[in-house]
Amino acid sequence: MKYEEMIKLAAKASENAYVPYSKFPVGACVLAESGKVYTGCNFENSSYGMTICGERNAIGTAIAAGERKIRAVAIYSPKMKYCVPCGACRQVMSEFVSSEGLDIILKTDDGIVVKTLQEMLPDSFEL
Ligand code: THU
Repeated sequence: MKYEEMIKLAAKASENAYVPYSKFPVGACVLAESGKVYTGCNFENSSYGMTICGERNAIGTAIAAGERKIRAVAIYSPKMKYCVPCGACRQVMSEFVSSEGLDIILKTDDGIVVKTLQEMLPDSFEL
């Protein structure tokens, strides 16, 4: 799937975000090594720390479907033109990097920017 198309799916997923506290919707689209895509949105809780980011929701859906290798993650928020993943989500992504690496696809005014997880989380912790 084209990375531009993944941003569209992430934008669609952001429409289902449950964000009564921050009012900051986020959608994510995961491309697994299998070629299948999975989407997710953030959902918040009155106990704020229980909030799950859009990226981790999409990754969890991919894992529940049996995927273990992720090729790319697209991220979209209608509230921010260049919505980067938080540190927690970068660490979670680092667990499932595909043999070709993991691209992070971000929306800008002009189109998309593609970064690698390696760029966004250098020297990451692993066991
Ligand atoms: N959020 C995400 O979904 N992904 C990120 O990478 C950054 C933050 C969510 C969490 C919370 O629901 C809202 O955005 C504001 O922090």
